[in-house]
Amino acid sequence: MKHLKPVVLAVFALAVSALLVIAGCASSAPAPAATTAPAAKAAEPTKPAAAPAATTAPAAGAATTAPAAASKVNIKIGVIAPMTGDVKTFGEDSKNAFDIAMEEANSAGKVQITPVYADDKNDATEGVNAATKLINQDKVKVIVGSVSSKVTIAISEVAQANKVVQMTGLSTNEKVTVDNGKRKDFIFRACFIDPFQGLVMAKFTTNTIKAKTAAVMYDNGNDYSKGLGTVFKDNFEKFGGKVVNFEAYSTADTDFSSSLTKIASNSPDVLFLPDYYNKVNLLAVGAREKGFKGVLLGGDGWDSSDLDKKAVDGGYYSNHYTAESTAAEVQNWVKKYQAKYKVVPSALATMTYDGMNLLVDAIARAGSDDTTKIKDALQNTKDFKAVSGAISFDKDGNPVKSAVVIQIKDGKEKYVETVAP
Ligand code: PHE
Repeated sequence: MKHLKPVVLAVFALAVSALLVIAGCASSAPAPAATTAPAAKAAEPTKPAAAPAATTAPAAGAATTAPAAASKVNIKIGVIAPMTGDVKTFGEDSKNAFDIAMEEANSAGKVQITPVYADDKNDATEGVNAATKLINQDKVKVIVGSVSSKVTIAISEVAQANKVVQMTGLSTNEKVTVDNGKRKDFIFRACFIDPFQGLVMAKFTTNTIKAKTAAVMYDNGNDYSKGLGTVFKDNFEKFGGKVVNFEAYSTADTDFSSSLTKIASNSPDVLFLPDYYNKVNLLAVGAREKGFKGVLLGGDGWDSSDLDKKAVDGGYYSNHYTAESTAAEVQNWVKKYQAKYKVVPSALATMTYDGMNLLVDAIARAGSDDTTKIKDALQNTKDFKAVSGAISFDKDGNPVKSAVVIQIKDGKEKYVETVAP
């Protein structure tokens, strides 16, 4: 999906250095145009889901559960996102979506948001510094962000210790909301988690692609990549598949020839690449150069206008939403986003929007900027009609929701199927 990076960026760049956004993870989307699963021999498309639950609230924080509101709550929200660095399309999309949600909330009347933006450059230390400054200096009560799990996990320690509510739209690693089995009760997300996403792709690989062998390459220094790669491997093996290579690299690596040569010579049916688009681009080009002929697969980190669609042609990835859904909530959102930014909203943008609307709903119900009241209201959210589906939180602050599988074919993204939890 595309995003835009217009002038806004320039403006920011000047503006401080810290800008933006949030993160969102997302969820499933209804079933658009049925299972068009091109390439794959559709075995059992899990459920072309009928327009998933989303009965979203078109307008702003359209809360589901929003009881009567008290007087207007004024609140400062810190937004942390990777506005610069190796995954900057993630930050740009998140900021764009945050701004729409904030404008809608501010004009709806129950909650008045003052934003403070910060750039984490997709780095955990930068994220912690940004969070510390937002909390101590700017006195924000809520933090929206970040995107990459490794950054969000680091920020969550600071937020939890200071009783600041944190909402990430997109960070899918389990450790975002739980530390060694202990719930960080001020931390929430709008997306599903990697144990589910990895299972979805292992099922899809087994049942739809009908692969018998797989290779996995993952970034050992990235919680998201390592976690998702491991869940995929464990589940694929459980379903009877064989993982012929499980190869680690480090975040700074750019030359993967030795692992890719090994993988190409084993010629597995699929190669799973659970990383962000920038690394996936290098790995996909490299794998083809070494002669790998199988199907490339990945997770939500592929969602970017900068994904090399030629290199991953024919590949599939799991994601939180599809703009192809005919659900009214999705179409309203797509229309709104396109009107402002001229492109279709990515899952990044969508999940950030959902995360913000969940917050606005909870703040309105709390009727106060007291963070304990806000986190209690959030935890009690019931069937909030988000764009990505209906959201209620489990005891760990995670929504239970569907995933969609998308195929990249001839430069385009196509919805393939929806997988329910
Ligand atoms: N899920 C990724 C993570 O946790 C972040 C991400 C989400 C990236 C969606 C792209 C799209 O690190």
